[in-house]
Amino acid sequence: MSAPDGITSGRLAVRACVFDAYGTLFDFGSAAASCADVLGDKAGPLTALWREKQLQYTWLRGLQDRHADFWTVTGDALDFALESLGLHTPEIRSRLMSLYRTLRCFDEVPAVLRNLKAGGFATAILSNGSAGMLADAVRASGLEAVFDQVLSVDAVGVFKPHPRVYRHAVDELGVPAEAIAFVSSNAWDAHAAAAFGMQAVWCNRYAQKAERLPGVPRFQIRSLDALADRLQLA
Ligand code: LAC
Repeated sequence: MSAPDGITSGRLAVRACVFDAYGTLFDFGSAAASCADVLGDKAGPLTALWREKQLQYTWLRGLQDRHADFWTVTGDALDFALESLGLHTPEIRSRLMSLYRTLRCFDEVPAVLRNLKAGGFATAILSNGSAGMLADAVRASGLEAVFDQVLSVDAVGVFKPHPRVYRHAVDELGVPAEAIAFVSSNAWDAHAAAAFGMQAVWCNRYAQKAERLPGVPRFQIRSLDALADRLQLA
């Protein structure tokens, strides 16, 4: 495995595994991909712009201290992306938003989570997603039994990467930050969790370059399949 500076190999001794949701467990590209009949070759560009705007709006709202729930932000970002690409109609908007409630999970997710639970790790989601969105996504993929907790920033009132979000997981799980493996496909999220004090793992599904941000993820993997071999129960 190629390792950017500061990323070490070896097993992390932790008690809990906490996962980001969108892009890490659930494939946010699956909504537009299911609408290829209408979107054609713009499905990919729409997914990219929708995601980019969605994240931008979370950060901008955080800086302005004007939080809104992730469902609102996701809809606003979709409106921007559809209009930018000349695709905006009420029908496609409503279809994409409805599909976003039931995004498909990545193929390896159910087995990886079942194995972690069987191995004695506490398991949780920590996501920007609203509680309702996360409940729908977990149910749609049949993952209710594999998570001990599904934690939304709703309870915190600010989006990642605010440190209060990572603190929320520590408080709710009752596990110290250094005994939590935090796994995210968003490098900025992994860096922020590491800066907070968690053992961060970057699941670099999208083969991105390393970010230049505070905090150092312990290592990177390309899919969650590689996770269990790098953890041991503390
Ligand atoms: C989440 C986004 C950041 O699930 O992917 O929190």
